[in-house]
Amino acid sequence: MDQCGNGFGRMREFAPFEVVVPCSTANLGPGFDSIGMALNRYLRLRFSPAKELSLSVSGPYGAGIELDQDNLIVSVMKQACAEMGLSLIPFQLEIENEIPLARGLGSSAAAIVGACMAVNHLYQFGWDREEILKRATKYEGHPDNVGASIFGGVVIGSWDGRKAHLLSSEAPNLPIVVAIPKRPLSTKLARHVLPSFYDKETTVLSSSRANLLVAALLQKRWDLLQVAMQDLFHQPYRETLVPGLREILKNAVKNGAYGAALSGAGPTILAFARDGERLTRYFKSVFSEMNIPADITDLKASQTGAFVQLTAEQKRSRVLGKI
Ligand code: HSE
Repeated sequence: MDQCGNGFGRMREFAPFEVVVPCSTANLGPGFDSIGMALNRYLRLRFSPAKELSLSVSGPYGAGIELDQDNLIVSVMKQACAEMGLSLIPFQLEIENEIPLARGLGSSAAAIVGACMAVNHLYQFGWDREEILKRATKYEGHPDNVGASIFGGVVIGSWDGRKAHLLSSEAPNLPIVVAIPKRPLSTKLARHVLPSFYDKETTVLSSSRANLLVAALLQKRWDLLQVAMQDLFHQPYRETLVPGLREILKNAVKNGAYGAALSGAGPTILAFARDGERLTRYFKSVFSEMNIPADITDLKASQTGAFVQLTAEQKRSRVLGKI
């Protein structure tokens, strides 16, 4: 019997390939578990045939990624194969990671999306992006991070626990300034502090702002972001866990932002810039006054989502006519 059963063992000879996945911000303003955006930091997964599973890691945020069977990418690939009645073939996987872990920039969503895309490519399942969205949302539990990583741009989605509905649209071409604290925050803890119930006034106001945010994004009305990004679903409860959040939400607009929000479950804070230099100076001053280490940096939206390509080595061989 081959490694996979069902005749899939021959795929040990598959041609090396690379999956490239952008990171994402979720919960854009009041779009809790619903509005996300892809950003230009990437997870790159390079697969090549091997007799045994072997993992290696590189990139600025490689540290902390497990390199055994507990690796999230490998376990999602195994699960996806099992759901198709197959077992996972061995491979060599080089993980190059630019996405900070547990900082609210969708690192686990990118890993899940990368795993689904890789399995789809390896086994030629023929899943389209909608199918990958369905599978990835089931693993992740909400569609905004995985949707942004799959489709790119801004995504607006809904998930009822069984089915994800999601549309993607062009993301604002605005400079984005983020503060990425050095210290991670557990998403589990950040979800734990949220209330189980919201009153009518809160829900109506916050959902009306989410509706306004969608309209503002579609019509490029950046002047409306200040109001449309205000949230009552999660930010007020997470302020105690996220240094600088209260101050930045209150004063970012006076300091060069169109609007600001907690990115995902935090602790990264993100703002669309009207005046990028001023906003960066302001973010830096907030964190240096608190004496809290954080990377203050510029990001841009990624208008494209995850894709599969030949590895650089394969491309060279193709140009030289070897394959
Ligand atoms: N929507 C999620 C949350 C994002 O806020 O908990 C982090 O996974």
